[in-house]
Amino acid sequence: KARRERRDRLHALLDRAAGYYARYLWESAEAAAARDYLARRGLEVETLRTYRVGYAPSAWDKMLLGSRQAGFSEEELLATGLAQRSRQRPGSYYDRFRERIMFPLANARGKVVGFGARAMRDNQPPKYLNTSEGEVFHKGSQLFGIDIARRPAARAGTIVLAEGYTDVLALHQAGVQNAVGVMGTSLTDEQARELERTARTLVLALDADGAGQEAMVRASRIAAGRRLELRVARLADGMDPADLIQQQGAGAVRELVARSVPFVSFHVDKILGSADLGDAEGKDRAIAELGPVLAATPPSVLREELVGRIADRLGLGRPLAAQLLERAAAEAP
Ligand code: CTP
Ligand code: MN
Ligand code: MN
Ligand code: MN
Ligand code: MN
Repeated sequence: KARRERRDRLHALLDRAAGYYARYLWESAEAAAARDYLARRGLEVETLRTYRVGYAPSAWDKMLLGSRQAGFSEEELLATGLAQRSRQRPGSYYDRFRERIMFPLANARGKVVGFGARAMRDNQPPKYLNTSEGEVFHKGSQLFGIDIARRPAARAGTIVLAEGYTDVLALHQAGVQNAVGVMGTSLTDEQARELERTARTLVLALDADGAGQEAMVRASRIAAGRRLELRVARLADGMDPADLIQQQGAGAVRELVARSVPFVSFHVDKILGSADLGDAEGKDRAIAELGPVLAATPPSVLREELVGRIADRLGLGRPLAAQLLERAAAEAP
């Protein structure tokens, strides 16, 4: 019982903080630049309010003082990661989040457990500062937006996974309400379990950069063995869903998800795209990599189409390509 009371108090403190930061974003003169910044990125007020996006003031102690006045202790402020100990002045504390756009992180039941905080300018690293691991926040089991996406995802049987906070907001604003954020690039086992509990189909919409594309392949290994049908939403080079809504609007974001492809198609194209197909040895290396990928796909029209695509790209007859791919699969470690 004491533990439950403790948790309730920490959640209440975090909830109060989310409310405070949100009010500060909309009401303070100091946050005018943040409001402009978010508007320039194409994020609407209604979307920002849905996710309770906020702004942390530049002062060192506004959260500290306000929370104390509301009856919370310094120990509770430390436990929630809202404050941290001062190194220069032992026994004193200061606000962890200052001059940042605040994204509250809630668990599946909608309780705030932490924050992701974006710097306004590139010269204030890190770009994102998150709540550190602690009593209530565990980054590895957290999915940003799960509280909002859970029902729409269960209803649709599909959940969409993006990398970042702004990507989830962009997807939701475009009508893709079954979207959650992995908060970085690598999917954990715990996150995969939560996704599996929520929906049967998982659409990966990670950034179309090197890190994001690699992360999709790693995510497929994490998801293997789970009852999750994997698909990939394909973005133009260098883009993420938030860039897409800003540059091309909500329709383009909806299309992105509607036109997702089976994971294996993405994987084959990724290998063909990065292979050196200029000579025989490069083609052999590509086949060595492609063989096991195709072998893991059940016989289907899709698989036959992929074999055809590979044969075309390698300039081989289809029967030979099929034979080499099978051999490569059998010889794979
Ligand atoms: N991230 C983080 N810490 C960092 C960088 C990134 O926790 N120093 C997490 C954040 O959750 C971020 C996600 O990884 O949203 C994806 O990172 P990235 O693609 O670099 O950022 P974006 O989400 O695209 O951020 P923005 O659009 O605001 O520039
Ligand atoms: Mn815990
Ligand atoms: Mn990224
Ligand atoms: Mn990104
Ligand atoms: Mn982005």
